[in-house]
Amino acid sequence: MAANPDKEKKVETFPVPDTPRPGEAPQPWGKTRFVGKPLPRVDAYELVSGSAVYSSDVRLPNMLYGAILGCPHPNALVKRLDTGRAEKMPGVRFVISGATPEANLKWPYRQWRPPKEISGKLFDPHCRFEGDAVAAVAAETPYQARDALRAITVEYEVLPFVVDERKALEAGAPPVQDEGNLVQTERYERGDVAKGFTEADLILEENYRTACEIHTPMELHGCVAHWEGDRLTLWESTQGVFAIQSEIAAILGLPLAKIRVIGHYMGGGFGSKLQPGKYTAIAALLARRAGRPVKLILSREETYLMVGNRPPCNMRLKAGVKKNGTLTALDFSLLATGGAYPAGGTALVDWQVRDLYNCPNVRIESTDVYVNAGPARPFRAPGHPQGSWALEQMMDALAKSLKMDPVELRVKNVPTVSQGRDGQPPYVTSGLKQCLEEGARAFGWKDARGKTGKPAANDSGKGDLRRGVGMASGLWFAGGAMPPATIIIRMFSDGSVNLNMGASDLGTGTKTVMACVAAEELGVPPESIQIENADTGTTQYTRPSGGSKTVPTESPAVRAAAIHVKQQLLSMAAEELKVDPSDLTLMDGTIASRSDSSKSVKISALAGLKKRGVIIGIGSRDPDPAGKIVNPFAAQFCEVEVNIKTGEVKILRFLGAHDSGRVMNRLTYDNQVFGGITMGIGLAMTEGRVLDGTQTGKMLNRNWYEYKLPTALDVPTELVSLPIELLSPEINTTGAKGLGEPVTIPTAAAIANAVYDATGIRVTASPISPMQLCKLLSERLKEG
Ligand code: MOS
Repeated sequence: MAANPDKEKKVETFPVPDTPRPGEAPQPWGKTRFVGKPLPRVDAYELVSGSAVYSSDVRLPNMLYGAILGCPHPNALVKRLDTGRAEKMPGVRFVISGATPEANLKWPYRQWRPPKEISGKLFDPHCRFEGDAVAAVAAETPYQARDALRAITVEYEVLPFVVDERKALEAGAPPVQDEGNLVQTERYERGDVAKGFTEADLILEENYRTACEIHTPMELHGCVAHWEGDRLTLWESTQGVFAIQSEIAAILGLPLAKIRVIGHYMGGGFGSKLQPGKYTAIAALLARRAGRPVKLILSREETYLMVGNRPPCNMRLKAGVKKNGTLTALDFSLLATGGAYPAGGTALVDWQVRDLYNCPNVRIESTDVYVNAGPARPFRAPGHPQGSWALEQMMDALAKSLKMDPVELRVKNVPTVSQGRDGQPPYVTSGLKQCLEEGARAFGWKDARGKTGKPAANDSGKGDLRRGVGMASGLWFAGGAMPPATIIIRMFSDGSVNLNMGASDLGTGTKTVMACVAAEELGVPPESIQIENADTGTTQYTRPSGGSKTVPTESPAVRAAAIHVKQQLLSMAAEELKVDPSDLTLMDGTIASRSDSSKSVKISALAGLKKRGVIIGIGSRDPDPAGKIVNPFAAQFCEVEVNIKTGEVKILRFLGAHDSGRVMNRLTYDNQVFGGITMGIGLAMTEGRVLDGTQTGKMLNRNWYEYKLPTALDVPTELVSLPIELLSPEINTTGAKGLGEPVTIPTAAAIANAVYDATGIRVTASPISPMQLCKLLSERLKEG
């Protein structure tokens, strides 16, 4: 990429710390040159110039295009399928469906928490959700493929449906699966909840609901499939090439080694690209039959129906608290749906209630049901923002009733152990208290809180505008260690460096962070390090980029690989310079003796390296410390202005205080914080899947016009990121705890609390649309 003169200026130069002796774990850095600095992305030029290649850009010679016919009904049986007319259309090669022998495959639907599995079919004659695959076409152009879909005649037996999870268990609700509409009920209990409530001075109880959200990453879902003999290569837009490899191997019955999955640049996934879609398997089948590569990219509309969502969630929370703010009991029951198959409708919704605050008595009952809608998939901090919406609004209400500051109430209940886990292991580090206190200070919480609820100063005499401030905190249940992770770094004879990593950069800046970590050890500029894209054929095995694990899992392995290179390099140089390796430093391509400045050598001049051609460093990741928990923590603060005539809410400013361990790159760190807040604004204010529950069961807002994502106009210009950087060698050898998900957990609840502060109205169902808020405001007027 082009040199950035400013960047050179900003980088402070400090000596790189000594290389640990073999077998010694590297400790977190002292002063750094690259790690933690606001260095621009190493691939910024490719990203902004449009030269970065995404999977959807891949075009192979002789390539066909695939398209999938989706069922237009939420519940229907395919009675008859006539593909004759479509097959005769110009450019159309063939059509496949459940009647095609090699396409008569099982399609597994897996719920990861608690585990449950049901199989459907790749082309299921019983379509249980709108958009499920009925047939697929291969044609010479994408337009011919889509035209052909319209020429396929399907006779459906349309069945009654249920799309509202609140009605799924009612008597007479149409059964979505043969086993009925109950997926399962999961229970958790600690202490004695009944006793806890008797100890409480105040008990509050409230119902909450969050609407269903759709991931809508910028880059659509899809892939290019190509066979060479019996080996399948997939270019897939995915968070994890190895996850696609293993699932497609199981579905198509192929040996893992016969599937190569290549990732490229990615335009986001947010959890929806942790697994293959039917499109992946269908592209592979079309390509095998055609003997030609097939590209199959879903339309935006199809991604709204077929590739996952954040499930809607209904919650009831009862909380008991003493006058002094000590929580005595939490009783939480929830009802959610992962759609027509087991997909984790309630998964992790309980985690905030379980683990965020000290509370000895907790009872949770999570009920997961089937409805006739597309299956859920993990969605940025699965379950956590939903649970936060309930718990953090409840904490706000408790504080109000206790006449206690909401920050103070939370600080009173900060835990030091993970209460939700067996044995209540301690956290390696917990910055929750600092997030709350330092966040409040930086935000000007006390001062702002004193001025709210009254007409705003900028209100030009109409008296309609009310200011309010709100806050919420949160924790993310994972800290990032999901080994195995293996990294290979090669240093060539000219000193240039290649980094081989199997993890995908979803667009978050993973490559930049890894380049900084390697550069820190090797004393080379980060942008000079060549990083390979994730590829099962050439890069090292790792789990998908999800769970905010990419940086905390991969970066220690990158550091270890870089140290491995450095150790070999320094011992080579020590031999040539006739000094002890511990006397050597490595900086900007030169190895020099500390004690004798006349002794130095450029890496490119090392005779040993010239002879060998390459130094190979291998790094891996140790597991987290046994018996301890590595979790990120968060607190967010915001100020809103509500128009009490129109119900419009303007978010004026936001501050995110995050303990995610070490800041690996200040720019990508802040990007994550602001991106997470933006996504949380979507949950709070604008987003919600609308299904027609009475007539058709179809999704009514399946495009970027009717499904309202927050735009630049909905996001405040004053966004502040306040890292709370608690470090411990026990976190891992780089000190990062995971950031991508915690940043979106408390956002929506903080906004709801600010709206309450401004208006005295508690909006318990998302989104806080002007229409809903107006209705609540007018109801209050009627009540007088
Ligand atoms: Mo995430 S929802 O684990 O990509």
